[in-house]
Parts: sequence; structure tokens; C-alpha cells
Amino acid sequence: MAGEQYASGQRFTLEHRLTPDYFVTRLREDVLEGLADPPRSLPPKWFYDARGSELFEEITRLPEYYLTRAEQEILDARAPQIALDTAAGTLVEIGAGSSRKTRTLLDALTQAGTLERYAPLDVSTSALVEAGEALCRDYPALHVTATVTDFETELVLPHSDGPRLIAFLGSTIGNFTPVRRRDFFTALRAAMTDQDTFLLGADLVKDADVLWRAYNDSRGVTAAFNKNVLHVLNRELDADFDVDAFDHNAVWNAGQDRIEMWLRSRLTQTIKVRALDLTLEFGDGEEMLTEISTKFRREDLVAELARAGFRVREWWTDSARRFALLLAAPDGR
Ligand code: SAH
Ligand code: AVI
Repeated sequence: MAGEQYASGQRFTLEHRLTPDYFVTRLREDVLEGLADPPRSLPPKWFYDARGSELFEEITRLPEYYLTRAEQEILDARAPQIALDTAAGTLVEIGAGSSRKTRTLLDALTQAGTLERYAPLDVSTSALVEAGEALCRDYPALHVTATVTDFETELVLPHSDGPRLIAFLGSTIGNFTPVRRRDFFTALRAAMTDQDTFLLGADLVKDADVLWRAYNDSRGVTAAFNKNVLHVLNRELDADFDVDAFDHNAVWNAGQDRIEMWLRSRLTQTIKVRALDLTLEFGDGEEMLTEISTKFRREDLVAELARAGFRVREWWTDSARRFALLLAAPDGR
């Protein structure tokens, strides 16, 4: 039930902000809007059922997927400074997933003596429950208040009287279109008080081969992650996609500074989406867009944030300058 809150143990709560039928209703709308007619596309949030969340975790450990290790390197170097600068009592994390890198921030905030609460937000209930329970075990004084929510449709930050650090890691911002990004930064700025700070992880434009390999790994984990969305459609909408009849295709779009993940039909085929009474005709080689992963340039991102009312106070990169972590405050602070 939306808004229902239940406690699992004393220090972990999970609030469902989405109605029980939210996922299926929204998935139906997205399929009707995005897949019924070419050019076909789906929003990336449908990757993240329990299996998709696991596959993403596997991606973060791949040798080619440098993003997670690069961001971890910056966090290792800068977390103590972030903790002292922000003096946050509440760490809010948008799209938290497994919260693995977050532990570096939790450690530093604990060490600084300010941390009381960790508030992860994610569309994946399984990721929130698994991470929340593990964190409560490992941080005996920490309160974890998790929220199942869809940041495409709402952004509600948990209330706090003291300063909040709002983290959005992993370059998930890259999965937004430019318009969604502008709306997101504006909504976030409006939800923040002058005491709050925003910590953003952003992957940077770099050599096209390095980018290509990060999204076309040799073990095929990214391919399985991409195709997982077809399993989600089969299960949730009684569709009959033959997952093996589609190929993973990730390409670097240099004009738009983004990796695009596509699923390409291997043949001419007809797919039935029975829950929607919908028939989809795919031509041989026809593609659907499942994700964009934008890579950033410093001047552009700083300017975008400034337009939304943020001042970038710190901009750090890993030693190989592949990834950036930035700390931004409300303009004027
Ligand atoms: N922050 C983690 C996880 C990144 S993966 C890291 O840096 O490794 C992206 C995360 O965003 C996943 O956990 C996914 O479930 C979540 N997510 C994707 N779309 C979402 C949406 N529309 N609303 C809320 N969470 C979403
Ligand atoms: C979550 N997001 C930032 C990842 C990315 O790199 O865009 C998702 C992903 N897609 C393929 N590999 C990883």
C-alpha cells in the first residue's frame, strides 16, 4: 500500500511510496508509449528487478567497467573531507542500489561524529532490503529509513532538522535525457535547504574504445543485463519475447556524448504482449533503445548545475581522470 511503513528490526524501516499496481500500470503505459511503434524505446528503470539488480552488481565488478572502481577511488580519498565539510546528520542516497560505495561515506560521517540516519531511495525493493539489513548489522548505531520510489515521477527527500548530504552516485544521472536532467536538478534544488549539500558522481567523456568496452564486456554480463528487460516484459505483461532472438548492441554516439544500449532483432518476428492485447512486428535488424548513458564535460555540467541554482564547490577526479565526483551547494552558500 502506498505510504505504508513497516519496521524490520528496530533500526530499519522501509516505506513504499508506490501503490501495489504502480509497476504494472506504469510498465503498461511505457510499453504502449515506447514499444508500440518505431522508433522503439523503454526507460531503463525496467532493468532493475531482483535479477537485474544482481546483474548490475556483477557489472560493477567487471574489469572493463571502470566506473565503480574510479568513483570508489575518489570516495576513498575524499570522504573524510566531505564528512567534515557537510557535517551531515542524514545521508540521503538517490538510486542507492546495493549501497556498497556508500559505506565509505557512512564510515567517514561516523568518524566525524555527525551521522544519525541513512535514507536510501530506490525503485528496487530487493536492493533496499538487502542493503538496509546488512548496514544495520554492520553499523550498530545507524538508523536506516529506506524508501521505494520512482525518481522519474517524484523526488521526496526525507525531512531532517540538521544538514543533509544528498548523494547521487554511479553516474546514474547519465541515464537521464538532458530535459529530465534539468528537471531533476531543479526539483532537487527546490527540495534542498541552505544547509544541505549535493554529492554527484558523473562519468566523463573519454576514449571511445574504453567506453565501448565498458558496455560490451567480454563475459556478456552487460548483454544479459540489457536482455533482462525482455524477461521482465514476459513475466509482468505475459509477453512472448524469445530473448535469444535479440542481440545486445551498445554504441558510442559521439554527437551526443553518450553510450546507447539497444536490443536488435535477429530476424523478422512477431511478439505478442498478451496483457495489453498488443502485437509487435520487428523487422530483421530492427532495434529498440533501452538505455542512454551520457558522459560529461566539466564546463557543461557545472553550467547546468548553476542554471538549476547550484554552485559546484569541489570537483574531484580519479587518478586516471575517468570519473568525477562533485560537491555542490545551493547557490549563495
Ligand atoms: N548507486 C549505485 C547503483 C547504481 S545502478 C551505484 O553507484 O553503484 C542504478 C540504481 O538506480 C539502481 O539501484 C536502480 O534500481 C535505481 N533506479 C533506476 N531507475 C530508477 C527510478 N526511476 N527510480 C528510483 N530508482 C531507480
Ligand atoms: C546505473 N548506470 C549508471 C549504469 C551505466 O553505466 O549507465 C547502468 C549500466 N548499463 C550498462 N552497464 C551499466
